This record gives sequence, C-alpha cells and structure tokens, in this order.
Amino acid sequence: MERIGSTWALSALAVSALFLGITARKPTMIPAKAEFLIQEGDDLIISCRGDGDIQFSFMDTPYHDLHWYYNIKFDENAGLHTFTRPNAVSEDTGWYACAYEGIEIKNDAQTIEHPDENITWIYVYVNSSSPFAQDALYDHSLIQFIGQKTGGSLVIPCRLNSPKKQSVSLRHYSRLNMRLSTQSFQYEPKIGFIKHNVSDSMSGTYLCHTSHRHHYSEASWHFPTMLTYEVLIGDLVEPMPPLIDKDEFRGLEWGQNHTFNCHSEDDVDELLRVEWKVPYTVPRERLRQIHNDEMQAAQLTLFNAQESDRGDYTCTKIKRYVKSSVTIHVEFHDPDVTYINVTASSGNGSFVTVAEKTTAIWNLSIDTYPKAYTVKWIGKDKLPIANSGKYLHTQSGTDNTFKIFHATIADIGVYTLRISTLNDTKDHNLELTVLAQPVVRIVNSVSYHTPGQPATFSCSATGSPLPNITWKYLEYPDFPSKTVSKYASVSEIRYETSRFFSFHILSHSTIRINATGDLTCRSCNVVGCSEAVEPIFVSDANGYFGVMDPGTVVEGDTINLTCGASAYNFTNNIAWEVNNSTEHERLSITNRTTKFTYQSILQISDVKKSDSGEYVCRAVNKDNHNTTAVSYELSVMDARVPSINDESTTNNTEIEIDLINDEHAKVRLTCFADGMPNPEVTWLKDGKPLIKHSEQYAISQNNSELYIKYFRGSADGGNYSCQAKNRVGTIERYMNIIITVEQSNYEIIWISLVCVLSAILAALLIYTTLKVKRAKHLKKEFRRMALSELDQRPSEDSVNDEDELISNNQESPRDRLIGM
Ligand SMILES: *[C@@H]1O[C@H](CO)[C@@H](O)[C@H](O)[C@H]1NC(C)=O
Ligand SMILES: *[C@@H]1O[C@H](CO)[C@@H](O)[C@H](O)[C@H]1NC(C)=O
Ligand SMILES: *[C@@H]1O[C@H](CO)[C@@H](O)[C@H](O)[C@H]1NC(C)=O
Ligand SMILES: *[C@@H]1O[C@H](CO)[C@@H](O)[C@H](O)[C@H]1NC(C)=O
Ligand SMILES: *[C@@H]1O[C@H](CO)[C@@H](O)[C@H](O)[C@H]1NC(C)=O
Ligand SMILES: *[C@@H]1O[C@H](CO)[C@@H](O)[C@H](O)[C@H]1NC(C)=O
Ligand SMILES: *[C@@H]1O[C@H](CO)[C@@H](O)[C@H](O)[C@H]1NC(C)=O
Ligand SMILES: *[C@@H]1O[C@H](CO)[C@@H](O)[C@H](O)[C@H]1NC(C)=O
Ligand SMILES: *[C@@H]1O[C@H](CO)[C@@H](O)[C@H](O)[C@H]1NC(C)=O
Ligand SMILES: *[C@@H]1O[C@H](CO)[C@@H](O)[C@H](O)[C@H]1NC(C)=O
Ligand SMILES: *[C@@H]1O[C@H](CO)[C@@H](O)[C@H](O)[C@H]1NC(C)=O
Ligand SMILES: *[C@@H]1O[C@H](CO)[C@@H](O)[C@H](O)[C@H]1NC(C)=O
Repeated sequence: MERIGSTWALSALAVSALFLGITARKPTMIPAKAEFLIQEGDDLIISCRGDGDIQFSFMDTPYHDLHWYYNIKFDENAGLHTFTRPNAVSEDTGWYACAYEGIEIKNDAQTIEHPDENITWIYVYVNSSSPFAQDALYDHSLIQFIGQKTGGSLVIPCRLNSPKKQSVSLRHYSRLNMRLSTQSFQYEPKIGFIKHNVSDSMSGTYLCHTSHRHHYSEASWHFPTMLTYEVLIGDLVEPMPPLIDKDEFRGLEWGQNHTFNCHSEDDVDELLRVEWKVPYTVPRERLRQIHNDEMQAAQLTLFNAQESDRGDYTCTKIKRYVKSSVTIHVEFHDPDVTYINVTASSGNGSFVTVAEKTTAIWNLSIDTYPKAYTVKWIGKDKLPIANSGKYLHTQSGTDNTFKIFHATIADIGVYTLRISTLNDTKDHNLELTVLAQPVVRIVNSVSYHTPGQPATFSCSATGSPLPNITWKYLEYPDFPSKTVSKYASVSEIRYETSRFFSFHILSHSTIRINATGDLTCRSCNVVGCSEAVEPIFVSDANGYFGVMDPGTVVEGDTINLTCGASAYNFTNNIAWEVNNSTEHERLSITNRTTKFTYQSILQISDVKKSDSGEYVCRAVNKDNHNTTAVSYELSVMDARVPSINDESTTNNTEIEIDLINDEHAKVRLTCFADGMPNPEVTWLKDGKPLIKHSEQYAISQNNSELYIKYFRGSADGGNYSCQAKNRVGTIERYMNIIITVEQSNYEIIWISLVCVLSAILAALLIYTTLKVKRAKHLKKEFRRMALSELDQRPSEDSVNDEDELISNNQESPRDRLIGM
C-alpha cells in the first residue's frame, strides 16, 4: 500500500514537473526581459533566483577583461544571486545567462543558438560613443582572428552596442585580395554575420562597416566605423595547452603571497597571448596579473591567500585562430596542519604485478606540507635502494616514479618509501608481484638405472605463483625402438618447499625402472608450463660401462668379476684382459648378453692374495668403434676366523631373571662377530638353533642380536649361545639365563611344614593336658577315699610314694590333703 502510494506520488511529481516544464528548471532573471540597454560607465547588474546553485555566464571574448572584473553576491534573505559588472564598457555588450549549476552554457562570439530550455538568457547593450560592441583598438592589433572548421557555421561577430537600427555591411577579400560576394551571409544584430556550412574558400579578410555617424562627428576618427577579421576555415589543430608548474600549486598556505606562472613554448613569431582566469570569489584587489606577450607568459600573484580562494584556476593560451587552456584546482592550507599525502597517479596504486623481465613502475603523487620532502626507497632487505641499472626513482614536484627494471622472482616483495618532511615521516609500501613461468630442472639425475629397482628422482621448479609439479615416465620396452611405449606408474611423490624462498618447489618421485624411457617433470602455474625431459637407460651391469662390485673378497673365495657395457652404446666385443695368468685353471672367462648389456664374467676360484691387482676390461663403442677400458682394483683380504668382539656380554655370562619382581622381563642379547669372510651368526638355546621369528624371540637382520620378549617359567632359562661361523672357523659364546623359581612354592612348603609342626605340638599339648586332668581326678577320688578312711582310722602309716612326698612337708596328713 505504502509503496504504491509513494510510487504514485513520485509519478505525480514527475508529471507536475513536466507540466511546470521550462520555468521550473531554470532560474528566473531580473530584469525579466529579453534585452536591456545601459550606458557605458553604469554598473551592469543581473540577478537570478532559483532553488539551487546558480551559475552566471557572459560572453567569452578574447582580450576582454570582463572575466576579471565582476562579482557575484548571494542575498540569502531574498534568495537572489546577483551578478555585477561595475563600470560597464561597450565591449560588455552581449549575451548573459544564468542557469543551475551543472548545465553547460555555450556562450562566445561564435555561438548562434541560445537554447532556453534550461538557461535564462538576456542580451545587454552597453551604449557608448563607439558603434561596435567590440573595441577595434586592441592593445596589439586591429585584427581579430576567427577560426572555424570546414562545414561549420561561421560568425563574423560584428555587433553594434545599441539596439538602434543601423545598416551594417560586410566585405570579403580572398587571400589574393579579390573581393568576393557576401550575399549568402545573413545578419543577426545580436550575433553578427552568419554563414552556415562554410568551405575553405570562405577564408580571408572580412571588413565589417557601419554607416553610423556619432553625434560627436568631429571626433569620429576616434571611433572607426570598420572592423577587420582574419578568417581561417579548415582543419584547425588545437595548440598544445600552456604550461604551468604544478609544483607551484601545492603546499600553499593561508596568509601568504603566492605567484603562479603560465607560459607557452610556441614559435615566438606567432601572435599569442597567455592569460589567467581566477574564481570570481577571489577579490581582485588581492590579485595581480602580469602579461608578457613577448615571453608568451602570464604571471598571477595572489596576495594574502585565504582558504576561500580555493577553486579552479585556468590559464588560457590564445593563438590567432584557436585557443587551449589548462585548469588546476588550487587549495590553500592551514599552515599549522602538516601532512604527507601519497596517492597513486596511475595504475592500481601501490600494488604492481608485472610479467617477468619487464619493468615494474609505480607512479605516485606525493603531496606534503611543508612542501619540501625527501623520499628514501628501502628494499625488501631493509637496505636503502640507490638508483642503478636495476632501480630508478625520479622525482619532479609531486610526481614520483619508481622503476624496477627486468623484474624477476627475486624482486617480489614489499618495498618501503620513507617520506620525510621537516615535521613528519611516513612510510608507504610498494608491493611487487612478478608473474613468472616455471623454470624446471631434474636434479640428481643418473642416466643408467638397474632394472626393477626403485629409483628416486628430484625435480626443482621455480615460478610465480608457486607452480605445481607432475611426473611422467614413458617407457620403451623395445628400446632403442620407440614404437612401443607406455606410461609407467610413478609412486611416492613428495614435495618440499622452502620457508625462505616461497617460489621454489622440489618434488621427489620414486619409480621402479623396468625399461628405458623418458622421464618428464612438468611444472605449471597460471603463467604457463615448462617441462624437463631426461632419458633414463636401463643397465643390469654397473651403468653405462663398468664392473659390478664383487663385495669383500677373501682368500679362498670364488668370485665373479662382471664387466658390463650398455647394449645401446657398445658392441658385444667386450672382454677382460687376462694375459699372463700362471694359474689358468683357477680363472675362467664367460660371455653373457642380457637385454640391456653385454657382459664378460671373469671367475676366479680359490682367490689368492696374489690375485690382488688391477684388472682391465675393454669394450668397443658402437658409434665410433673406439675401444674403451675400465679397470677394477681387486684387493684380496686375509681369511680370519670369527671373533666376537662385543663388550656387553662375555663368555659364560649369567643373567638372572626374577620373574616375581619383573613379570615382564625381557632380554636383549648381542653378538657382534667379526671375521673374514664375514661370519654367519646363529643363535642356539641349549644347543638347538632358535627360529628366527617366533612369538617369543626376534633375531635382528644380521643375526647380531637376539631379543627374548618374555619368559614363561624356568623352562625358558638355560643356555643361550651365539655361534659365529665362516669358512675358516667357528666361535661360540654362551649366556646362561637363570630364572628365579616361583617364590609361592617355597612359601607353601614352609607354611605347610610350620602347620604340620604346630598341629603336632597342639596334639601333644592336648594329650598332656588331658593326662594331667585325669591324674587330678584320680587323686581327688583317692583323697576322698583316704579322708574317709582317715576319719575312720585316725592314724595309719602310709607306705605310698605320694604320701611320703607329702609327709616331707611337715604338715599333718589331713592339712596336706585339704590343701590339695
Ligand atoms: C535540461 O536539463 C535536463 C535535466 O538536467 C536535461 O535532461 C535536458 O537534456 C536539458 N536540456 C538541454 C537542452 O540541455
Ligand atoms: C605580500 O606582498 C605584499 C605586497 O608586496 C607585502 O606587503 C606583504 O608583506 C607580502 N606578504 C608576505 C607574507 O610576504
Ligand atoms: C615544522 O617544523 C619546524 C622546524 O622544526 C617548525 O618550525 C614548524 O613550526 C613545524 N610546523 C608545524 C606545522 O608543526
Ligand atoms: C590527500 O589526497 C586525497 C586524494 O587526492 C585527498 O582526498 C585528500 O584531501 C588529500 N589530503 C590532503 C591533506 O591533501
Ligand atoms: C616394473 O615391474 C614391476 C613388476 O613387474 C611392477 O610392480 C612395477 O610397477 C613396474 N614398474 C613400472 C614403472 O611400471
Ligand atoms: C597445475 O597447475 C596448472 C596451472 O595452474 C593447472 O592447470 C593444473 O591443473 C595443475 N595440475 C595439478 C596436477 O594440480
Ligand atoms: C659366476 O659366473 C658363473 C658363470 O657365469 C656362474 O655360473 C656362477 O653362478 C657365478 N657365480 C656367482 C657367485 O655369481
Ligand atoms: C648410449 O646410447 C643411447 C641410445 O643410443 C644414447 O642416447 C646415449 O646418449 C648413449 N650414451 C652415451 C654415454 O654415449
Ligand atoms: C667372449 O667375447 C670376446 C669378445 O667378443 C671373445 O673374444 C671371446 O672369445 C668370447 N669368449 C667366449 C668364451 O665366448
Ligand atoms: C704377469 O706376469 C708377470 C711376470 O711373470 C708377473 O710379475 C705378474 O704378476 C703377472 N700378472 C698377473 C696379473 O698375473
Ligand atoms: C674415438 O673416436 C673419435 C672419433 O671417431 C676420435 O676423435 C677419438 O680420438 C677416439 N678416441 C680414442 C681414445 O681413440
Ligand atoms: C666359551 O667357553 C667355552 C667353554 O666354556 C668355549 O668352548 C668357547 O670357545 C668359549 N667361547 C669364547 C668366545 O671364548
């Protein structure tokens, strides 16, 4: 609802604006007339009212000082903008206009149309003793120059400065001084003689003549009745704009006097004038302009500059038929506010991206107050950069250019500009990115590889942005024929990048080489791709041409010295040179051909120390049939019985394992044996060899270590030994592992023993106690009987043992009995 309402309101507004039309879009003018007349010396006043910013326009005629002496005032209460030209002169006769700010107003002597849709026009006559609107008495010439393009409309602006009807005539003389017809020209008093669609033949001299007779007729010679125009029709080239020094326009302070220069560097012969136009807001009392037509220069001085003097300052160069100008925006600053202002004058500012080997350029405008500044260019390494074949800094006023020639990856980074004035220092960063296609190289390359063996290759690539790397191995199973080919699998690719140089990548790949082929390392980034291709040959001998290492050779060994040459590069003519062996029966040479090599095998059985020496193998090259030789230095070692030189255990070491305290006891036994040939080590327990890999035992690769992972009981103890054996002898080292018997068994035995003993003791105790009790009872019984008997027979000599003992107590038998 609301939306519809507002839309409707907007449309209504638009419609009403349309109906209000013309008047609503341009200011109203006072006087509201099409033209008016004033007298020379009067003030020319035009006011405009409107609901926006208003601009005034007057005719732009050369050599006329109107643009210099006028002012515009705004009366806020009345809403009135008033243009005042004090002390008008006849040259001020012409078109005036006002319009809202932003509307383009074309208003010069060649203007024919005065469109009134958005502009309010008025024509002003300034009546004077001279008949013409233009003063024929120029400072320097009586002639006015008019240039116009072929096909355009030509105006001979011969206007009168009074609306009175007067006859005006025009004459045209060609370059050759022939008088031509001007019949086709039409005359508009407020514009002049007009001719549309002009051609080159319209060039020449025009004389405009009026029959006007002034009332001071006696002095009429002062006021010529004729104006002269030089007209050029053709392709007019706009001259180079006049020159100003932009540096003069910055760092301008309030309260100071400032001088601005403008000049032209054209041919001095040419009639030329340079002049300044200044915002009308600058009071003319504070301005001075000095023209120097000879020097083609104009100097403007602004006294006691104010902040409000800001605006567009234009210097115009008027050259016979054409003109051109340069405009600069001028600001005046508070002298108490210092600043350093860095702006990019072209390109995308401080970030520059260039292709490799081109020049990186930063164009910066450095504006400062105070005006004087220095720039220190600091490199990535924090060291100052001086101009050289590589770096160039140029400074002209605010314009600063920084160049890095022949930029490479190494130049990538952040540079600093330290800009200093008397009062401030500011750092500004310049960032350089260089785009570089990868540069790729296969490093650590060995051409000949053993078939079936994994080989690791490394490829290094640099580029910006950091490139990626891909590997390919194209193998040729029928090499040297390349008709059959296939891609082999590349495994284990690993990347390495540098922490310090971020544009380098290293890739390692492992390939099991089965056939000769081409290894390709390809590296790509957004800029492009590069490849490095390396041929890889397969050789089952030692490379291109070589002897396969027989390893350590010990007296008594039977060895093969295999000399092999790549079948790609050699003929099958390959042989060991053994010419004067005295013991021929121990040596034998056989030939062998594999898919990849021709081999000559020298077998030496029961090698003697005296066999040591240099052996030479020769092969004939396929290409040039040159013979190539390789030699092998055979060195035969003395045979030596094995010895165990291992400090950690000695022979018959006893190792005690306490399984109660260390349930998870483990033992590692070592046996480093030496000997020639290298002895074979075996591990035995109680004379029986141990299985190399079992749940309980682990034996190292070279058998020098035995690892017992756990012990189950005393049965795992015993005699462990290692036996080192070679062709020459055997040695054995024993290690006794004693397992402490399980403690619990002894305890039980002890406890049960103690128990049994205590049981026996207890039984004995019970037995004796019972026995004593029974004796007491008998005694009691006996005493009772005895007492009763005593009672019957008061005295009786007892012969009872007990009674005798009792009698020793010197008591009466009764007392003793009672006492019992
Ligand atoms: C007048 O001004 C309006 C609005 O700015 C614009 O659309 C129109 O083209 C102008 N007319 C002329 C003749 O410049
Ligand atoms: C500016 O120029 C005027 C006139 O030459 C002079 O009196 C005045 O001292 C100058 N002002 C400054 C700040 O130089
Ligand atoms: C800048 O520095 C100079 C010298 O130190 C000093 O005289 C001047 O007042 C300073 N200007 C400002 C705006 O701080
Ligand atoms: C600095 O430059 C920017 C862009 O030209 C401008 O907008 C700003 O006003 C300048 N500052 C000063 C202090 O001149
Ligand atoms: C070479 O052959 C072995 C066994 O045939 C195979 O596993 C391996 O992938 C092959 N290597 C290549 C590079 O094809
Ligand atoms: C490598 O980089 C290039 C270019 O950026 C891209 O086209 C290609 O797909 C990348 N290759 C791999 C394997 O990532
Ligand atoms: C040495 O070469 C002969 C003949 O080629 C071969 O029969 C023998 O097996 C080889 N011996 C060894 C240890 O390679
Ligand atoms: C061996 O032969 C191959 C194939 O013809 C050739 O590409 C290579 O360059 C040769 N190697 C040497 C060291 O001559
Ligand atoms: C091995 O080859 C060489 C060179 O071709 C030849 O001189 C020699 O007689 C051959 N030996 C045997 C046993 O075939
Ligand atoms: C060759 O013979 C000489 C002299 O008989 C002897 O000194 C030398 O050791 C022999 N060389 C070989 C490799 O047997
Ligand atoms: C091998 O052959 C080349 C060219 O055929 C020749 O220049 C060179 O001298 C020869 N080398 C030997 C050691 O004979
Ligand atoms: C260890 O002692 C036994 C006899 O106790 C002996 O036969 C053996 O040779 C000795 N081993 C070493 C390496 O001394």
